[in-house]
Amino acid sequence: MKEDLVISVGGSILLPEGGEVTNIIDIAGILLEAAREKKLYLVVGGGRTARDYINWGRKLGANEAALDELGIAVSRLNARLLIMALGKKVYPVAARDFNEAVTAGNHYSMVVMGGTHPGHTTDAVAAMLAERLHVKRLINVTSVDGVYTSDPRKDPDAVRIDEMGYDELLSIVSKGERGAGPNIVFDPLAAKIVKRANIITQIVSGYDLDNLRKTIHDLDFVGTTVSAI
Ligand code: UTP
Repeated sequence: MKEDLVISVGGSILLPEGGEVTNIIDIAGILLEAAREKKLYLVVGGGRTARDYINWGRKLGANEAALDELGIAVSRLNARLLIMALGKKVYPVAARDFNEAVTAGNHYSMVVMGGTHPGHTTDAVAAMLAERLHVKRLINVTSVDGVYTSDPRKDPDAVRIDEMGYDELLSIVSKGERGAGPNIVFDPLAAKIVKRANIITQIVSGYDLDNLRKTIHDLDFVGTTVSAI
């Protein structure tokens, strides 16, 4: 039987700033190749567009829950773009909830969804779906090449940790921001869920495609692996 694999794909990876649609095409190529031997559940984030909408809505005085709804809408839009790049083996619409994603997975080798409810990011959606499906492994494809001791964009002394336990991940990500549109390497709620469900979580950059391919195929890769160590 094919391995079920949940992948959280950051919107900033699919549509990087100043980037082209070629990023989606390249990532779709890797996913299509992997889908020959794995069943893929892809949870897509809102990226820069979601952050723009959230910032604009905040300036207009919207509350955090309403801003979260903007982020969810953009993540679903990005999910639709990824579906367009994946051809015929993908469930043709973005699943709106976990029941739909699970049911669609019985008939298709790839299922794509975006956000679900206010209060978390698509990393948490990916963790919840992974728990629902009893998968062993979740991959978070993001804009940094792993989890660092502190934010590498702000701290020059930050060091990447290649292997860590769930509690170490929780303590690092819990120091992050609050409110709609946070910029944390992995959502704290997602970290709690992967801990309770003991889901091996691999955090990897989406900019190094060869390394991403290795991660998906469970080969040695550059990034962070979180497990019950
Ligand atoms: P993302 O999942 O894209 O957040 O959701 P991110 O991790 O900041 O972005 P990437 O990894 O670059 O794509 C964007 C925002 O949408 C709302 C939250 O406000 C989140 O910060 N959101 C998303 C929800 O409220 N619920 C969801 O299920 C998903």
